[in-house]
Amino acid sequence: MPSAPSPWWRYAVIYQVYPRSWADADGDGLGDLPGITSRLPHLVELGVDAVWISPFYPSPQRDAGYDVADYRDVDPRFGTLDDFDALIERAHALGLKVIVDLVPNHSSSDHPWFQEALAAAPGSPERARYIFRDGRGPGGDSPPNNWRSKFGGSAWTRITEADGSPGQWYLHLFDESQPDFDWSHAEVRSEFEDILRFWLDRGVDGFRIDVAHGMVKTEGFPDAPDDYDLAVDPTASQPMWDQPAVHDIFRSWRRLVDTYDGDRLLCAEAWVRPDEALARYVRPDECHHSFNFGYLMTPWRAADQRESITRSLEAVRSVGAVQTWVLSNHDVVRHATRLAVPQTTTSVIPGIGPDDPQPDAELGLRRARAATALMLALPGAAYLYQGEELGLPEATTLPPDVRQDPTFWRSDDGDVGRDGCRVPVPWEADRPAFGFNETGATWLPQPAVYGQLSVDRQRGVPDSTFELYRSLLALRRDRGLGRGELSWLGGFGTDVVAFAVVAGGTTTTVLANLGDTPLALPSQLDVLVTSGPARRDLLPDTTVWLDGDLSGTGGISSRA
Ligand code: NOJ
Repeated sequence: MPSAPSPWWRYAVIYQVYPRSWADADGDGLGDLPGITSRLPHLVELGVDAVWISPFYPSPQRDAGYDVADYRDVDPRFGTLDDFDALIERAHALGLKVIVDLVPNHSSSDHPWFQEALAAAPGSPERARYIFRDGRGPGGDSPPNNWRSKFGGSAWTRITEADGSPGQWYLHLFDESQPDFDWSHAEVRSEFEDILRFWLDRGVDGFRIDVAHGMVKTEGFPDAPDDYDLAVDPTASQPMWDQPAVHDIFRSWRRLVDTYDGDRLLCAEAWVRPDEALARYVRPDECHHSFNFGYLMTPWRAADQRESITRSLEAVRSVGAVQTWVLSNHDVVRHATRLAVPQTTTSVIPGIGPDDPQPDAELGLRRARAATALMLALPGAAYLYQGEELGLPEATTLPPDVRQDPTFWRSDDGDVGRDGCRVPVPWEADRPAFGFNETGATWLPQPAVYGQLSVDRQRGVPDSTFELYRSLLALRRDRGLGRGELSWLGGFGTDVVAFAVVAGGTTTTVLANLGDTPLALPSQLDVLVTSGPARRDLLPDTTVWLDGDLSGTGGISSRA
């Protein structure tokens, strides 16, 4: 019996659009849905399978839309529900799937439920949908526990009760304008199932689930260990992350999406460690994808890369899922800049500002191209972030007065925040705002270098980053790399990441030189694509894909 075809998401490449910054049809300086629809052909030209759109729902935009006031509508700044329907129709006509962003850990403080909770009394049903608690100490003046907000400061804010007295405290793992829901409440669960159906019925092909690992907190809200580190601790050791009961929610959502046709996707944004913890989010009855942030945080060193890839593949194999690969998104320093700064696992998060040492742009771009070429050869699915196909660097010199990320404003340790990776993308060098719109208005200023990196300056230019991405994506598809089996190759020295991917009888050999001396390329295989200059030796910070198999011809093969 012929085997069933794989669901579309299994080996897909999914492109993230950050609606504020991709394309602005009405010229107000903030991107919008009609802008996205007009630029969808770019994604077909690039060669991706799907687009994931960050939140566009009604929102006061205190966290760029990750603070949702109404889960079933479109913010007028981004358009209307009709614009959304037009977007999805056009995308489907072009053969692209559409993923929307669901933000279930918290709402905006402008959400009617939260406003009702503020107006109601302690212990009321309205308060029970969120996490309100009495404070500690005399007069309840201290927060209920020591948890810290991811954006800096306490994770609790005290309210004033309707009668003017100092009141209860509510939990917000992020900004104070983002109160956390209480997911033990049946009404919260049924509301979100209804929201899922609302968008599924409108034809979306799946959801990216914001803060998937934070939705359930340890009962009793105990203090966290004193010295806990929000960014890197093994997560389940902290009472607010990766609690076992969170998986019940994804099981129920999986049952729900499985009642729809078309292989709708659930992708968890779960910053959890170790890899085995991440794999629990993609067990057969839970989500289909979970972002591989461990890989994103892996330093650009050959041994670290090999270890991270091996561990990632083993972890998902144990649950029969596919791995995802990702290097950039709207929360981390763009990899064309990140890879040029000293390589530590934490260099992804805090942002780079004008007062920091400025990274070497050439080195960053060379490494970013090599890293992407390595990533797109790996088995599984991959996520790209808008503008990385142009080699856009982080905007590292944004002045404080233009910054909008709440991380910058709340940070107690000098983080400049994430605005630097969210600057509007350049399309045409000689048009206003480099083609982002017709008026030249932009909600964040674009660095001058973005002009030289615009799509029209790169299209058809053989060694441009845009054409490199197009070649990599076309070859990845033609050679079935996403569905391939990876075997490590030895014999190239410690600084080279070397592996073969076999798919459907075709072997692709991948060599990435992370050292500082050139490597002679095996002469018997043709070069399919290279991230650097076309030469018979592989320069430092360069990745090459070769046509065929080296085992038996000099390279030493060893299974991962
Ligand atoms: C993760 C999102 O990617 C990020 O942008 C947001 O600030 C937090 N979750 C809170 O929603």
